[in-house]
Amino acid sequence: MTDHRVAPILDIIDRYLAQQPTAFYFPGHRGRVSDLWGEELWRSDLPELPGIEEAIEQAEGLAADLVGAERTWFLTNGATMGIHAMLLAFPGAKVLVGRNCHRATIGGMVLAGTVPVYVATELDPTTGVDLGVSAGALAMALLEHPDAEAVFLVSPNYYGVAGAVQEWVALCHDRGIPLLIDSAHGAHWGFHPDFPPSPLALGADVVVQSSHKTAASLTQTAILHLKSDLVKAQTIEGVLSLLRSTSPSLPLLASLDYSRRLLATEGKQRLAQIVSWSEKLRARLPWLVSFDDPSRLTAIPPGGTGFQLDQWLCQQSPPLIAELPTLEHLVFALGLGTVEEDSDRLLQLLQEYPCPAKKVRVAPFNFATVEQPTLTPRQAYFSAAEIVSAKEAIGRISRTVICPYPPGIPVILPGEVIKQETIEYLAQVIAAGGIVQGWQGGIAVLAE
Ligand SMILES: Cc1ncc(COP(=O)(O)O)c(C=O)c1O
Repeated sequence: MTDHRVAPILDIIDRYLAQQPTAFYFPGHRGRVSDLWGEELWRSDLPELPGIEEAIEQAEGLAADLVGAERTWFLTNGATMGIHAMLLAFPGAKVLVGRNCHRATIGGMVLAGTVPVYVATELDPTTGVDLGVSAGALAMALLEHPDAEAVFLVSPNYYGVAGAVQEWVALCHDRGIPLLIDSAHGAHWGFHPDFPPSPLALGADVVVQSSHKTAASLTQTAILHLKSDLVKAQTIEGVLSLLRSTSPSLPLLASLDYSRRLLATEGKQRLAQIVSWSEKLRARLPWLVSFDDPSRLTAIPPGGTGFQLDQWLCQQSPPLIAELPTLEHLVFALGLGTVEEDSDRLLQLLQEYPCPAKKVRVAPFNFATVEQPTLTPRQAYFSAAEIVSAKEAIGRISRTVICPYPPGIPVILPGEVIKQETIEYLAQVIAAGGIVQGWQGGIAVLAE
């Protein structure tokens, strides 16, 4: 049995620092220039220590062992980097992509020259939450596109919805093509029976997780897992070498090592606490729901918008900051570092919320029907463009992604004709206090 109490990258840093070496190397700060964030962080920011390659390999091996992957890579540019790597592994290929993909997917397709076929998703009529691509929709898309070389889908989504992963796996593997999964929100899945198994355990070929979101590593770290007969480790290694800095940060890598150790040794117990707090919150507040992931709570305020509730919580002293405000919802993420006091305060504030009486009725934006753009993301992105006002953009072709952020799901795709109702929806988001990326200062459309 593997000993998961060790953490090879943390150990190598500790051993090195214990020698109190005299430093004539990069980084220039030498761990001395600032005590901002404590001296230890700066002191741990070290160059390529002797043996570090082996320590990283060992740490990635432990992370692979923990989830049963054939190979695991530590990433220092977020799940974004893993998504780009997955798509670059299929350069120029036709790929079936869930329409609810994150904007990082579009970036990956610009880089890889992917020819996407977007697959429509389903909306939960009761909560207005996106439920992802149904098995039926994927089966139909695979029938219509027998030349697709891979399928790229999201599980779980921002709301903690798992989707039909088992069916997706069967459909893809029947066709002999790999299933690539953006599991940015699922680094903690599979570590407690009340959470779904990770898509990797269900047979997905390549899975990326933002460990910084739901495990315990530092922001900008992520993990890419491979377990596949259809995608080769050398292919992924090759594309990662294009994307990876030649000077990856040791504190970032060490935090991934730490996060794996925490999940292995304390994950189940911490997740059990989260489950009990989540159950208590939902029992007391009927307008708080969770889907497949008990750590992801979606408030559906009986009145007003999700933005209004968010703003009110931010104005409290001390403020309470949620994860994702939308017109209809406010999503809270309980994490491995959440303590009972946090959960109690959330309950207290939500009980005290002076909820507006009137429900703001908005048609939730949905991807139940998808019009395929005539240009690929790469063609659109590298076309000559001009910046026009939102009004002038109607009827023109978008050069880039336009989306509320968070969640970063493109409402308008590159290469897509911009519709009046979409602009109206985005204007509503901005008026309610949301941020729309790709809109500030005008909208980039293809030159006529
Ligand atoms: C579904 C999804 N995929 C990918 C990403 C990008 O992850 P990262 O910020 O780790 O690069 C996000 C970020 O919010 C996301 O929500």
